[in-house]
Amino acid sequence: MNSLKISLLCFLLSIIFIPNFTASQILFQGFNWESAKKGGWYNILKQSAAELASSGITHVWLPPPSHAISDEGYMPGRLYDLNVSKYGNQDDLKALIKAYRDSGIQSIADIVINHRCAEKQDERGIWCIFEGGTPDDRLDWGPSLICSDDTQYSDGKGNPDTGADFGGAPDKGPE
Ligand SMILES: *[C@@H]1O[C@H](CO)[C@@H](O)[C@H](O)[C@H]1NC(C)=O
Repeated sequence: MNSLKISLLCFLLSIIFIPNFTASQILFQGFNWESAKKGGWYNILKQSAAELASSGITHVWLPPPSHAISDEGYMPGRLYDLNVSKYGNQDDLKALIKAYRDSGIQSIADIVINHRCAEKQDERGIWCIFEGGTPDDRLDWGPSLICSDDTQYSDGKGNPDTGADFGGAPDKGPE
């Protein structure tokens, strides 16, 4: 074989094998709608690290971790407060992520960004005063960050909502 043929052969072999290496990622959904009811879901999940890894799972999708009005986490409020989730607290979550990492599994966060529940009502009685969940003012928002066309929650200066409106909580839009 001359060198051109050898190069061609190497090229063909790399086309055949490289997709197999890159495609070997498996995402596991680490919760369902009932998981919040189990109590201590992060600790339950942690026990599965070795089994998931040996099954070839490379990534686990974790439930929304922030303080939320709904048990499942999809009505978030204090986004930086990870201590009151029905799935467990911040230390439980850190221990879970570490156990997965030690088993070669990456954790994926479910971050709910299109709507957010307020902490307090303003002087008009509208739920539009947000609390970030830290002692400082990070993510402590007022009504101006609500989508401008989400009139139920009033005087927003954010971009108009895209897609369907969600009436259960203020829709957020960047200013
Ligand atoms: C959550 O708990 C951890 C320690 O368990 C603490 O470091 C952190 O400040 C707490 N966060 C809030 C928002 O209370």
